[in-house]
Amino acid sequence: MTQDELKKMVGEKAATYVEDGMVVGLGTGSTVKFMVDALGKRVAEEGLKIIGVPTSDRTAAQGRQLNIPIKNVDEVDHIDLTIDGADQIDKNFQGIKGGGAAHLFEKIVAINSKRNIWIVDESKMAAKLGSFPLPLEVIPYGSQQLYKRLAAKQLNPNFRKQANGDLVQTDSKNYIIDLKLGTIDDPFGLADYLNRQVGVVEHGLFLNVVNTVIVGYGDGPKVLEA
Ligand code: A5P
Repeated sequence: MTQDELKKMVGEKAATYVEDGMVVGLGTGSTVKFMVDALGKRVAEEGLKIIGVPTSDRTAAQGRQLNIPIKNVDEVDHIDLTIDGADQIDKNFQGIKGGGAAHLFEKIVAINSKRNIWIVDESKMAAKLGSFPLPLEVIPYGSQQLYKRLAAKQLNPNFRKQANGDLVQTDSKNYIIDLKLGTIDDPFGLADYLNRQVGVVEHGLFLNVVNTVIVGYGDGPKVLEA
């Protein structure tokens, strides 16, 4: 199976967890795109009634195109379930997100959800976090000074750039700094440090957030419960 086939498989599996009447957080990324397609199909074919709370402009546009009613996170009084992708997940179900520059909105939607499901292909599972660079969403003002502080702390920062060399901007017009760490031995300690850095809006460590992970393997999806 190709990676895309694995992503489609877990996306379609996750869409079966959505029930009529639910308010559903819709993550961002290439895996979630398959899940939103599957939800759109259920809306069209089964008359499934849901409200989608998107985590990016991209996902909001896809949802609208598929006739999934969309509301902003501040327009709903609860979120039953959020389904999102992840960039790396360790054996303790801790994760890195933000490879698609959407982790700020993803984290806001996730922490306001009763349940979180992540959908990944098997390549995202790791013994330890860190081989995937850790994204930080940072305020542009003072970001060069922040970069220097992170470099002095040996965190190996890199501003994320587009193919044309311009800095990547998030939906909130912030920048992304990726930390190339190799291995993260103490995710909670690192999260504490990053939470204290002025100018970091949010980091991509999602700790104790997810309840269920659906992993795509060549012989089928495997559902892991925290
Ligand atoms: C978006 O910023 C990310 O957190 C994505 O959820 C994550 O990068 C997974 O994306 P893919 O499904 O495209 O790998």
